[in-house]
Amino acid sequence: MDKPSVFVTRRWPEIAEKELKKYFNVTLNHGDKALSNKELKDAFYNHDALAPTVSDTIDENIIKSGKSGKGKIISNYGVGFSHIDLEACQKYKIKVTNTPNVLTDATADLTILLMLMVSRRSKEGEYQINNNLWPGWSPTHLLGSELTNKTLGIVGLGRIGQAVAKRAYFGFNMKIKFFNRSKKNINFSFKAEQVDNIYDLCKSSDFLTIHCPGGNKNKHLIDQDVLDAMKKTAFLINTARGDIICENSLFEALKNNSIAGAGLDVFENEPEINPKFLKAQNLTMLPHLGSATKETRNAMGLKVIDNLRKFFDTGDVIDPVPLVK
Ligand code: DGY
Repeated sequence: MDKPSVFVTRRWPEIAEKELKKYFNVTLNHGDKALSNKELKDAFYNHDALAPTVSDTIDENIIKSGKSGKGKIISNYGVGFSHIDLEACQKYKIKVTNTPNVLTDATADLTILLMLMVSRRSKEGEYQINNNLWPGWSPTHLLGSELTNKTLGIVGLGRIGQAVAKRAYFGFNMKIKFFNRSKKNINFSFKAEQVDNIYDLCKSSDFLTIHCPGGNKNKHLIDQDVLDAMKKTAFLINTARGDIICENSLFEALKNNSIAGAGLDVFENEPEINPKFLKAQNLTMLPHLGSATKETRNAMGLKVIDNLRKFFDTGDVIDPVPLVK
């Protein structure tokens, strides 16, 4: 029997691609550039499975095209799925899977990295070194603030939020508070206080870090009102999805110093960066590197493979994305 066919929209690390080829007829996007809507439509029409990632927008046209051709399953290389039209997947009975767990630690590490970078002013320091502008050591040179003993406010205490909390609590003795839409009664290994609304979280947090999903439900959750509620000395960190923050409001807050700074790994219109952001000294930006380690990117590929193998063997999957909200 022929192996099922899989179209992979972006190149994976070599180990994962090799493994995928053992079980499937694989078509790779050799140019590794984001594909057009038409290319994705054709790909899903002609293959049993589509393995997209966050840089692809999988809309109803693509899903419908798959349904009218060979397409049966979308196995996303990544944990977030707000770039996939789940209602259309529901309508056309296309299964969707993602890659939870394997990128939790890498993303939590990068969150802490951004907290440290922005609060210790590493961008300004590196700029001085690279431009031969370092005036030399002095007691008042580029003073930042510490994480130790501060309060960390977490928006969304899922897997990644909890992993950040652990690092902050055990590594930096931070006090953990969180806002989550549902009540969290889990016995965490760290002490954490759930607050009823995001404004209360802002009022008491020295660092506010975002770990909820993107998409319509949380679009611009961090708006001007939320930013206004933050302490003047606080830092905002986002390693989740860019659309959760209203970028124009954030720029104003940074410009007016109504917050101390921000660290962003994700943006509303990736890979485009709001041009205003380039001028902000108190903003540290990384190009969506949360899961970018060799270990994690391989593990993400292997998770896609496990889901696809199970699907084509049994009709079931390991990591289903819930289609009905
Ligand atoms: C995800 O998995 O959702 C990340 O943002 C991309 O790795």
